[in-house]
Amino acid sequence: MINFDIVNKLSIRELNEILKNPNFNLEDLKFPAYKNIYSFNYLRSAIDFLWKNINLKNKKVVFPAFTCPIVIEIALRNGIEPIIIDCDKDTFNLDFKEIEKLDFSNIDAIFVHHVFGNILDIDKLRLLVKKNVIIVEDAANCIDDNDYIGKGDYLLLSLYKYFPNFRGGLLLSNNIFQDSYELLMRDKIDYKDKLSFLLHIEGLHQYFFNLLRSKRIPEEENMNTLEWEILKCDNLSLKFYLNQRLKAKKEIESRKLLRKYYLENLNPKYFYEQKVDLDHSYMNFSIVLKEDFNKFRDEIYKDLRKKNIFVDRMYFNAPLKEYAKYCHGECKNAFYLASSIINLPIRSSYDEKDIKFLCESVNNCLEILTA
Ligand SMILES: Cc1ncc(COP(=O)(O)O)c(C=O)c1O
Repeated sequence: MINFDIVNKLSIRELNEILKNPNFNLEDLKFPAYKNIYSFNYLRSAIDFLWKNINLKNKKVVFPAFTCPIVIEIALRNGIEPIIIDCDKDTFNLDFKEIEKLDFSNIDAIFVHHVFGNILDIDKLRLLVKKNVIIVEDAANCIDDNDYIGKGDYLLLSLYKYFPNFRGGLLLSNNIFQDSYELLMRDKIDYKDKLSFLLHIEGLHQYFFNLLRSKRIPEEENMNTLEWEILKCDNLSLKFYLNQRLKAKKEIESRKLLRKYYLENLNPKYFYEQKVDLDHSYMNFSIVLKEDFNKFRDEIYKDLRKKNIFVDRMYFNAPLKEYAKYCHGECKNAFYLASSIINLPIRSSYDEKDIKFLCESVNNCLEILTA
């Protein structure tokens, strides 16, 4: 049974292989640019920990408008004054033209995000900002096996967004935060987490999950009331991540090939594709509905669910309306993308026929909605 699902899945064989492998060490991650690696229960904890330890209270930090709004929420809770700038409509990454408009004399840091795995040129960014501006690089959507990432002063990686895993995030740094890190408790993957992980395992039980999910639209999380605790990462999440990242290069190559089939089969009258900056690791395959059709985005999302095709609308809540007062200008592109993107699943277990089926399903939805 093929899962057309943006939620990553593991076969039982892959699961067994991971479980029987010995634990890996975090030192197996080769990032010569950074001396220290700290692991956390979530990436939000890693970011929160970083702001607390480098203390930018009452300082100005630039953020991209098209990113996960939790990133802005963490900054506000740490007393940071965010300056939110618009993104490029084609690459979804922050727009260098917007950077050029800023006066960096009173800006202390910039937070950048390689959106959906599309790698932004950090070296180019470095030339545009003042020398002592701290660059925090959020590579949550990338798998770390890539020569272009890891150019920021700090690097953030997610343990569960590219390959299936429980949760977790990493902070790579040249600063030593060992004293405050040692004070943290360790997260524990419990039986409830293991039960929820069934959603990530291939098998007949997926029919049952799909039946439930096809009738339910996930609710928007309320960022203002969201609570989290900063914990060290559980060893099981680390083991899952370190095992799976070994196959990252092969996975990325397969996804690049599948992208070609997407482009050949999606109807260009309705969509355009995310343009690649330096390189792309395709966490998903993102398309944008053109202006006359974006009003149908949420209908398409729901219709596809009824056909057991689970796509997502990330970041449909970017930037949150409450954060609009921190926007530098109108951030029109970010608002447009938030209402127009559909993220389609892409993974090496698919073949040309599967992608054709996905494209036909999406094209058909639009043909019916516009008839
Ligand atoms: C770019 C980005 N950074 C950080 C986060 C926070 O990650 P976590 O859910 O692990 O806290 C997210 C969440 O989706 C994200 O998309």
